[in-house]
Amino acid sequence: MQQRDRWPSKTLFIFAAVGSAVGLGNVWRFPYLVGKYGGGAFLLPYLIALFVVGFPLIIMEFALGQKMQKGAVGAMKKVDRRLSGIGLGSVLSSFAVSAYYAVITGWCLMYIYYSLNLAWGEDTKGFFFNKVLNVSSTVGQIEGFSAAAVFALFISWVIVYFSIWKGVNSVSAVVQITMPLPIILLFALLARTLFLPGAMDGIAFFLTPDFSALFDVEVWMSAVTQIFFTLSLGFGVMITYASYQDKNNDIVKSALITSLADVGIALTAGFVVFTTLGYMAHTSDQTIEELAASGPALAFVVFPKALSLIPGSVILSVIFFIMLITLAIDSLFSLTEAVATLFEDHFTQVNKKMIVFFVCLVGFLGGLVFTTTAGIYYLDITDHFITHYGLVLMGLLQAISVGWIYGAEKMRHYINSVSEIKIGKTWDWLIKYVIPLCLILFLGQTFIKNIITVYGGYPNWSVLAFGWGLVILMLATSIGYSYFQSLPSESKKDR
Ligand code: PHE
Repeated sequence: MQQRDRWPSKTLFIFAAVGSAVGLGNVWRFPYLVGKYGGGAFLLPYLIALFVVGFPLIIMEFALGQKMQKGAVGAMKKVDRRLSGIGLGSVLSSFAVSAYYAVITGWCLMYIYYSLNLAWGEDTKGFFFNKVLNVSSTVGQIEGFSAAAVFALFISWVIVYFSIWKGVNSVSAVVQITMPLPIILLFALLARTLFLPGAMDGIAFFLTPDFSALFDVEVWMSAVTQIFFTLSLGFGVMITYASYQDKNNDIVKSALITSLADVGIALTAGFVVFTTLGYMAHTSDQTIEELAASGPALAFVVFPKALSLIPGSVILSVIFFIMLITLAIDSLFSLTEAVATLFEDHFTQVNKKMIVFFVCLVGFLGGLVFTTTAGIYYLDITDHFITHYGLVLMGLLQAISVGWIYGAEKMRHYINSVSEIKIGKTWDWLIKYVIPLCLILFLGQTFIKNIITVYGGYPNWSVLAFGWGLVILMLATSIGYSYFQSLPSESKKDR
């Protein structure tokens, strides 16, 4: 049997895991969810979800990959052939997310160009909606494509193609510089925005907990989905990455470093965004609540504003958006690679470059719809449905598979045998009972809600096409695959 590839060092594995985790989810998605759910109301469920769901699950995904020495599909198959569809479902979710993730990466690219003369001016919100996206007034009205966004999307995929094509080694070298730099810049921005008039009001909005939100299932569900998104859980990516580790590597420590780095950066981004919002509210007639409710556009309204307030804004803006891209690109290509690996494993005789090219091409074509003038609405719908019924559902099924079929205790013994910090029986409980129960409850409630009222008040057809349609397609493929896999009689159980 061929020797499986290995990370050049343990540190590089952590770099790659942190690189995948830290991305647009931290600087784009997290702040907008905090804004959407009214600030501190979101923060508490988010942190609880991190400890109760995120941390145990990232340990589980690392352990699954490292123990089975296989990517998502292969690892689930080793637990039981009939479970391979769960792995496939994760990979399909990766593909759907990569389609719109690349579009947002494209927006960042466009902002490098706009940075050159701070083209956004005073009204960063108007600029983003009217000039950058040229958003149409209704969801059903597609008034063509935004040519700049299509071009930027194309460039994003070209970058991804060449990142993967040139091999992981050259990329590792780049990531060592491009991963820490945006973080330093984020802190530099914070040092400025913290002292703006109104900044404290923004912080109060961000941090003041609202205990009544704890009774709102929607807030909980959004917190959980954000944890999945930000820690790259339920995508199969962490399983795949860990499968390139030696079987005796420390799991708990890697999980701890990855999740703490990830949350730390999300919180820092949150501080930058909300101090700036405090300032924007101070200098305009809008309240922080109103400004914060910008949805997926929030980062593109707020960061340009913050950037134009610091000395040397042109050069720093250019650097900032380049950094944002480097943050996004390593996440994006880890998503793409998860998809490409699937085909590579199946079609071993086909050239790897061809496969990567094909996946990038389909990703580009699939993303085009999000560059239309109504694209931001479709993006919001797809993001909601794929994160809820893709990631969380697959995460739930994984937890049940490991907890009940493989055996949580057996997995914990393995984890403890290789890790310096030991995990206790609580982990078994979380994987077997707490996480499945919570996820079933939240998913069930959200499902009922999404059936009764159309998500986001969008027209029915759009939610059917970009939400339910995709989910049904994904589930049908996964179930079909599981069925197909369970057919052969020779069961190779080498667990
Ligand atoms: N975790 C990434 C982010 O927060 C998104 C992502 C998920 C990237 C899965 C790769 C794989 O932006």
